[in-house]
Amino acid sequence: MYRAWWKEGVVYQVYPRSFLDSNGDGVGDLQGITAKLDYLQGLGVNILWLCPVYRSPNYDNGYDISDYYSIMDEFGTMADWEELLSEVHQRGMKLIMDLVVNHTSDEHSWFVESRAARNSPYRDYYIWRPGKEDGSEPNNWASEFGGSAWEYDEKTGEYYLHLFSKKQPDLNWENKRLRREIYTMMTWWLDKGIDGFRMDVINLISKEPTLPDARRRGKGSLPWGREFYRNGPRLQYFLREMHAKVLSKYDIMTVGETPGVDPEKANLLVAEDRHELSMVFQFELLELDYQDGDKWKIIPWKLSDFKKIVNVWQERLEGTGWNSLFLNNHDQPRAVSRFGDDGTYRVQSAKMLATLVHTLQGTPYIYQGEEIGMTNVRFPDISYYRDIDTLNFYEEAIRSGLSPQEVLETIYARSRDNARTPMQWDDTESAGFTTGVPWLAINPNYQAIHVKENLANPESVFHYYQRLIQLRKERLVLVYGDYHLLLPQDEQLFAYLRTPNIKTGPGFSEKQLSEVRRAEDELFQDADQEKILVVLNFSKQPAVFVLPEKVKFQTDQLLLSNYPTRPETPTRLELRPFEARVYALK
Ligand code: NOJ
Repeated sequence: MYRAWWKEGVVYQVYPRSFLDSNGDGVGDLQGITAKLDYLQGLGVNILWLCPVYRSPNYDNGYDISDYYSIMDEFGTMADWEELLSEVHQRGMKLIMDLVVNHTSDEHSWFVESRAARNSPYRDYYIWRPGKEDGSEPNNWASEFGGSAWEYDEKTGEYYLHLFSKKQPDLNWENKRLRREIYTMMTWWLDKGIDGFRMDVINLISKEPTLPDARRRGKGSLPWGREFYRNGPRLQYFLREMHAKVLSKYDIMTVGETPGVDPEKANLLVAEDRHELSMVFQFELLELDYQDGDKWKIIPWKLSDFKKIVNVWQERLEGTGWNSLFLNNHDQPRAVSRFGDDGTYRVQSAKMLATLVHTLQGTPYIYQGEEIGMTNVRFPDISYYRDIDTLNFYEEAIRSGLSPQEVLETIYARSRDNARTPMQWDDTESAGFTTGVPWLAINPNYQAIHVKENLANPESVFHYYQRLIQLRKERLVLVYGDYHLLLPQDEQLFAYLRTPNIKTGPGFSEKQLSEVRRAEDELFQDADQEKILVVLNFSKQPAVFVLPEKVKFQTDQLLLSNYPTRPETPTRLELRPFEARVYALK
């Protein structure tokens, strides 16, 4: 395992539309972000990831790009963007851009040309097919946003594929000329000096070329067809080509958004000897409460299952690849509402979850507002919602006979707008986000939860994040050290050790691995070796932690806790609701 800036850094994800509006039009913008760089530097993060800021008609808030080379008018100008980049770099920070190349907007000039005629030179930039004999869709795949994944185009009498909305036609990566255009565009941005890309649904770019029908899932609903386009047959080829032609020429980080990867598939993408991506976002963890891969079907989750998933990813990528660590993003409900408690224990549980993210092996990601403990929102009716996925779901669910209240309950738990309500800067009108009318309503709890209060209060969620980030900078074992789960079956406690890294690698045989395990056991017992112990109470009830006997130490130092502390040795701890402790043992 080699050292890298993107392993030792902390990423902060900005959803520009909802961050800070500098000109009163109700939409966040680039100048707003620049104005808050000192705030972000004060938090301690050093890598910014900007969600898409390119020209877009905004049916999917910028994930439908109509020009890769221009800035969205609502966000400002290229000069604003250049200024942002330079201010970021002046502070010693890095800037990562979103790369959305599985699809474009249907308003992109390539698609406009493509749909103009069957013999257009751009026809093959997208995926066009004639209907079946009866004129129906070329196959039975569902769009991720509901309905069929195909749209019929009158003009040329064929269908085009769109895995997301019909305003987001999928690009045909089999076309060499298209790939070349994408590499040119990536190079253009990299030459401006950016520090990497977050790659939107990058493992969807290679489709099974015959586009076969998928097996139906239950009555009525169309099958996803995901087995034919996630991690498709030419994915590795495309990524290696991209790496050779573009990525390898720069010192950058890349993180691929990859729904439906397990650690084996992820290793194919991130293994250090393969030269494809630095990291991936996996969703096994955040889909643990989905039924049959459907986010709108909510099932209860158990801490033991949560730990099992974290554990597998920590162990399987150890020594070969690198984890990305996150519980939030712009597509997910707020973690404190989902895995913590956004009522009585909001502050404690927000800090406890942060402790998890910042003390595992991998690179931590903070999604805007997470650092002040922002929560989900419950708007009174559907007219408040803006997210295309939420609106489509609402319409379909009402059509199927559910009442508005029933549908809203699901939306409260799952809507992407939970993460997209504007950033809460202070307790003035519109939370200091805008002087105009916000594009999406502010969460009504803004008078209690906002940045200004967090900055003034030394016990705030913000200051806890600051300490966590600082701790990771001071102790490299938190970045690179090995991870060992304790108490795997416990349904209240998540506890683990981080120990100095013992080298393992992809080529290790079972025999070598068992030697490594023996060496690790010795490490636990070697009181001279410093180990970090993390104990997290994931429940509203008190919990007792007993340190397994094999872990030996002589001195202990409490590095961090989310409650006022009391003297206790970590061999036996009584933890309060959502309590988190981090100890150095030696
Ligand atoms: C994943 C993005 O994170 C999400 O916001 C978007 O809707 C889809 N990809 C389609 O681009």
